[in-house]
Amino acid sequence: MNISFRKIDENNWRECIKLRVGNDQKRFVATNENGLALAYVHKEMNPLAIYNEELMVGFIMYARDPDDGIFYINRFMIDEKFQGKGFGREALAMLLNELRERKIEKVDILHKPDNFHAIKLYQSLGFELTEMKVGDDVISTVKL
Ligand SMILES: CC(C)(COP(=O)(O)OP(=O)(O)OC[C@H]1O[C@@H](n2cnc3c(N)ncnc32)[C@H](O)[C@@H]1OP(=O)(O)O)[C@@H](O)C(=O)NCCC(=O)NCCS
Repeated sequence: MNISFRKIDENNWRECIKLRVGNDQKRFVATNENGLALAYVHKEMNPLAIYNEELMVGFIMYARDPDDGIFYINRFMIDEKFQGKGFGREALAMLLNELRERKIEKVDILHKPDNFHAIKLYQSLGFELTEMKVGDDVISTVKL
């Protein structure tokens, strides 16, 4: 496994919007089209393609809230064909490491309250569920 992040640009955006989660997972995450549109409007968002070697396997997006300065992850998906191979864990751990190196002290992640596979993964990386909610999402947080 060799996971890396790359910016979404004119060469890879089509591949990004072709990535798919399983039908039963669609309610857990908006489409990548939606993520890229959000990033177009909110310039503080950092949409990143997740690659294993030269193959795009997923999408993750993080931002620093311009109002309170808190870093949060609001998109995270691995294409259904590539799930269960450890790519998601490796990518999330890598992003947390990058933010830690930038001296960021805390990161929130937004997720549906019943996304139990994702919650198990987040907790194994140190996230703890909070009481905070944003719309239908709840927030887990990790101190870096
Ligand atoms: C959540 C998600 C990003 C995890 O990515 P992944 O590459 O499949 O995860 P990994 O292979 O790194 O596995 C991470 C852990 O989750 C568990 N896991 C992941 N998918 C699972 C599934 N469908 N069923 C059971 N366990 C699962 C693995 O067993 C693993 O645990 P372990 O490391 O203790 O063995 C991916 O499943 C996904 O895109 N889901 C749909 C979208 C979503 O829910 N995104 C999160 C929105 S907040």
